[in-house]
Amino acid sequence: MKAFEIQEFGNLVCTEKPQPEPKFGEVLVKVKAVSLNYRDILMIKGLYNPRLRLPVIPCSDGVGEVVSVGEGVTRVKPGDRIAGIFMQKWLSGNFTKEAAKSTLGGDLNGMLAEYVVLSEDGVVLIPPHLSDTEAATLPCAAVTAWHALIEAGLKPGETVLVMGTGGVSLFALQFAVMAGARVIATSSSDQKLERVKELGASDVINYKSVPKWEKEVLALTEGVGVDYVVEVGGVNTLSQSVKAVRMGGKISLIGVLAGAQGEFNPLPAVMKGVRIQGIFVGSRQMFEAMNRAIDVNKLRPVCDRVFPFESAPEALNYMEIGSHFGKITIEF
Ligand SMILES: NC(=O)c1ccc[n+]([C@@H]2O[C@H](COP(=O)([O-])OP(=O)(O)OC[C@H]3O[C@@H](n4cnc5c(N)ncnc54)[C@H](OP(=O)(O)O)[C@@H]3O)[C@@H](O)[C@H]2O)c1
Repeated sequence: MKAFEIQEFGNLVCTEKPQPEPKFGEVLVKVKAVSLNYRDILMIKGLYNPRLRLPVIPCSDGVGEVVSVGEGVTRVKPGDRIAGIFMQKWLSGNFTKEAAKSTLGGDLNGMLAEYVVLSEDGVVLIPPHLSDTEAATLPCAAVTAWHALIEAGLKPGETVLVMGTGGVSLFALQFAVMAGARVIATSSSDQKLERVKELGASDVINYKSVPKWEKEVLALTEGVGVDYVVEVGGVNTLSQSVKAVRMGGKISLIGVLAGAQGEFNPLPAVMKGVRIQGIFVGSRQMFEAMNRAIDVNKLRPVCDRVFPFESAPEALNYMEIGSHFGKITIEF
């Protein structure tokens, strides 16, 4: 079978490998589609984890069909359409160190291969109405957005701020709309803002032409601030997010798109009683709850370009340019 491997940092190589076989409690999956996350680019370059064990097959997000199962498998059967879960050992309950060290396309081989073997515990059935490429977008960005809003207690009528139009933010927008919340969305592009309005954002702000966007958020909420911020900018946008959130509101800390280094004064957050929570994707239980909601609401992920398997390096380059709107996927 063919698989892409990081053999040394900065170098993604397509290699021929023996087809894996499922052992006790494992399933063999014919991969049908993979979606990309910025993490995959950082992983390949050695910037995510310079001590990463190599060689490793990249990409956390993929779906496929169960081809065969090892002894003792009861959760799935041949023919089932499944997705791998981001952390193979976070099934439910509290986040643990063991779970954090079980990520696909990092600690463990990922999904950018024609066949993969996964533990039966490390897979979920995908919503039937989704195509393979649509379903491949779910394991990382969607579960993260679900965790940040729905698991965090978002209620109808509350207001959510989503930053930029990356994968996590677009899923957060869709889940917030699905939950009956109001969404304020930002982007550096007026064109993209038109598209987020079509997805249900009630108010939009261009964070390039309005660098003090938090003031605009306050104006749009009668000076109160939003109930939730889906914070993907990092330390360089966090002070603005604290200004934009209401007293006692919630900020989900997710990403560092505006840079990993910087200064943050915690006092304004303390004085406003803001709850700041780090979010690292989510558990299998969250993924399954999300899939039920996606199924009932017939929600469709926002997808950008689809690349063929052989063009995985081009797909990664395309992601790096950053002009996409929605998830970039690879079809096998
Ligand atoms: N903690 C977790 O579990 C988790 C999970 C997934 C991702 N992440 C992290 O979360 C972040 C977002 O991930 P993603 O997959 O959604 O990324 P992505 O799809 O690569 O997002 C790219 C978009 O982010 C927006 N952006 C860039 N700089 C920004 C800034 N300074 N302020 C506001 N928006 C900005 C831009 O939107 P516009 O073009 O509209 O301006 C850009 O198109 C990344 O740092 C990623 O590593 C964390």
